[in-house]
Amino acid sequence: MDRLRIALPKGRSLSATLGFLAQAGYDFRESVQHSRRLLVLDGAGKLEAVFVKPKDVPVFVEYGAADLGIVGTDVLREVERDVYEPLLLPFGYCRLSVAAPADRPDIPLRWEPSPRVATSYPNLTYRFFQERGVSPEIILLSGSVELSPLVGLADLLVDMVETGRTLRENGLVELRTILHSQAELIANRASYVLKSEAMAALIDDLRRVVARVGASDAV
Ligand code: PRP
Repeated sequence: MDRLRIALPKGRSLSATLGFLAQAGYDFRESVQHSRRLLVLDGAGKLEAVFVKPKDVPVFVEYGAADLGIVGTDVLREVERDVYEPLLLPFGYCRLSVAAPADRPDIPLRWEPSPRVATSYPNLTYRFFQERGVSPEIILLSGSVELSPLVGLADLLVDMVETGRTLRENGLVELRTILHSQAELIANRASYVLKSEAMAALIDDLRRVVARVGASDAV
């Protein structure tokens, strides 16, 4: 059977991703702990993993550099790559929200014709405001987006909220939710057909863990 390659997101969601894969019998934790290699085999030598920035996961998968990937819905909708999305995974729950300083009056957004909005999700942000008849000026940042209204860089921000702690501790409040997000398995369209046996076996292994987690509610 073909050995598959999976693209995994470096950063915040990596440990939940590795924990989930280990439960399914694909354990990369040992290699990740002890090395900085970006291409590794799991303990049993059944699956190869490459570690890339979250926004690059769909790129690797679309081009077939990886057969599969694990990435959040937020990133998938932002980068709009042509991939299959065969399975939702039970972790990485968060939401993409519009936020502003707590002392700002919550007037309807349409009252502001052209707010300055800081975000690392320019496409989703632009679409959200356009659909409401608002033309935002997007300030593109790669992190610490919550800082921008505090230092006069932007009126509003659009960023991921998980526990809400970053917003709270910076005196910010959520005004609108743009989308709900969780981890998803994505697949290259050609691999899905050409390596169907290996794909089906791996997806079955993951699905069994999804069912177990769902049953015990222990995400
Ligand atoms: C993410 C996100 C928020 C924060 C939300 O940032 O961009 O800043 O987590 O989490 P919370 O609601 O639990 O506080 P991350 O830590 O990934 O770093 P970043 O600022 O570089 O995006």
